[in-house]
Amino acid sequence: MKTIVISNRKGGTGKTTTSINLSAQLAKKNSVLLIDLDTQGHASVGVGHGPLDEGGTHQIFFDKTLCEYFLPTMLDNLTLAPASAFFDVYETGDLQGKLKKAYIHEQLSEFFDYCIIDTPPTFDTLLKNALEVSDCVIIPTLPHQLGFIGVEQVFRAIYKMSIEVRGSLPFVGILPVMYNSHIEEHKKILKKLEESFGKEKFFSPIRVDIELSTEFERQVPLVLDKQEKRGAKDYIEFTKDLMERINE
Ligand SMILES: Nc1ncnc2c1ncn2[C@@H]1O[C@H](COP(=O)(O)OP(=O)(O)O)[C@@H](O)[C@H]1O
Ligand SMILES: [Mg+2]
Repeated sequence: MKTIVISNRKGGTGKTTTSINLSAQLAKKNSVLLIDLDTQGHASVGVGHGPLDEGGTHQIFFDKTLCEYFLPTMLDNLTLAPASAFFDVYETGDLQGKLKKAYIHEQLSEFFDYCIIDTPPTFDTLLKNALEVSDCVIIPTLPHQLGFIGVEQVFRAIYKMSIEVRGSLPFVGILPVMYNSHIEEHKKILKKLEESFGKEKFFSPIRVDIELSTEFERQVPLVLDKQEKRGAKDYIEFTKDLMERINE
C-alpha cells in the first residue's frame, strides 16, 4: 500500500479537491482508503458523507480502531474514514504514532492499494501522524506570489517534520491549482515553481474550473461524473503522472 498525504498550511489551496479526485480516479482500478484528518470534514462531504458528530477517524487518538468508522462510498473500491467533527487537537496534546499503530494493528495494507490522507491547514500532531505513514506528500498551491512564498515554507517544514517522525524523506511534489493561463502572474509563478523545485517535483497545473466547486454540492468527485470537464481532465492527467513517479 502506498500512502499519499495532501498538505499545505494555507487554507483554500485545493487540498480537499485534490484528495477526493485523486482518490476517486485511483479507485477506478485500485482499492483506495480516503482518510479525512481535517475536522471540517470537507473530504467526507465530497464523497457523499460529512464529518461525524460521534465517532470518526480522530477517535484513533482515544485508542479506538480506525476501521470501525469506515464508510462505503459511490465507488465499491473507495472507502472513507470520515472526520470527527468535534475533535480538538489542542485538548489532546501530542499524540504521535496513533495512525501508524492503526496501520499496523488493522493490517490496512492487506486491504488497500492506496491510502490518501486529506489534512487540515495546520502543522500539528495530525500532520505528524500522517507524515509518519507517508510515502509521498503533495502540496497543492495557488499560482501567485504569496502562494509561492508559502509553498517554500511548507516544503521546508515538511522535510524537517518528516526527518523527526520517520527519519527519512518521502517523495514531495508541488501541484499548482486554480491555474488561469490568461493571468500573467500565474504564468510567471508557474515558471518560478518549476525552476525552484525542479522538474521531478513539479506537476502540471490543475486549471481553474467552477465544476470543481460545485462537485461538493453534488457530493460526487468530478472525475467520476463529468470526466470531459477540464478540471476532471487535469486531475486524471495528474493521477497518471503521479503514479508513474511514485511507482518507478
Ligand atoms: N481548480 C479549481 N478551480 C476552481 N475552484 C477550485 C479548484 N480547486 C478547488 N476549488 C475550490 O476552491 C475552494 C477551496 O478548495 P479546497 O479543496 O476546499 O481547499 P483546502 O482543502 O485546501 O481548504 C473550494 O470551494 C473548491 O471547490
Ligand atoms: Mg480542505
